[in-house]
Amino acid sequence: MHSGRHIVNLALIGFMGAGKTSVGRLAAEQLHFDYVDTDELIQSHTKRSITEIFKTDGEPAFRALEQQVVKELTGCQQTVICTGGGLPTHPPNLDSLKTHALIVCLWASPEKIWERVKNQSHRPLLHDPDPQKKIRELLAAREPFYRQADVLLNTDIRSAREVAQQVVHQFRVAAADRP
Ligand code: S3P
Repeated sequence: MHSGRHIVNLALIGFMGAGKTSVGRLAAEQLHFDYVDTDELIQSHTKRSITEIFKTDGEPAFRALEQQVVKELTGCQQTVICTGGGLPTHPPNLDSLKTHALIVCLWASPEKIWERVKNQSHRPLLHDPDPQKKIRELLAAREPFYRQADVLLNTDIRSAREVAQQVVHQFRVAAADRP
């Protein structure tokens, strides 16, 4: 871990349907940490749903709100931070999270993602005539950003509980390592 980092939080990044919410909640329980989700923060600040923000103001407005929330998170302590799937595509967001959090990326294959999200309707980016193609394209475009994480964990064949255990283990190792 390079210097200049003070690892007191755990941030989960990764594509929609990678399991960030379930894993994040379990990890927060195990670590006795608070839990925050960037989408939930945006919704509570704006009193609007993510779908509504995308529909009315467009994606760039949503990304600006994400950047604002990331800045607010610098004051967190002992918190598991779950992030929206597109948040790491703006490099300053990851740079900022890295100053105070261990970044764990939950990875899943396009097939697994589709299996997990196909019956959900709250993600505007997947309101597409060919959502499976959209998942493959977005995932490929985002992979270089997701690879900037400190730890990359494949969730395809693991339960949320197993993944959470691994995440907690990685966090404890990193936090113990700090100067
Ligand atoms: C998005 C992912 C969503 C949410 C928004 C955009 C994305 O969060 O932030 O719909 O760009 O991948 P989840 O990853 O929690 O589904």
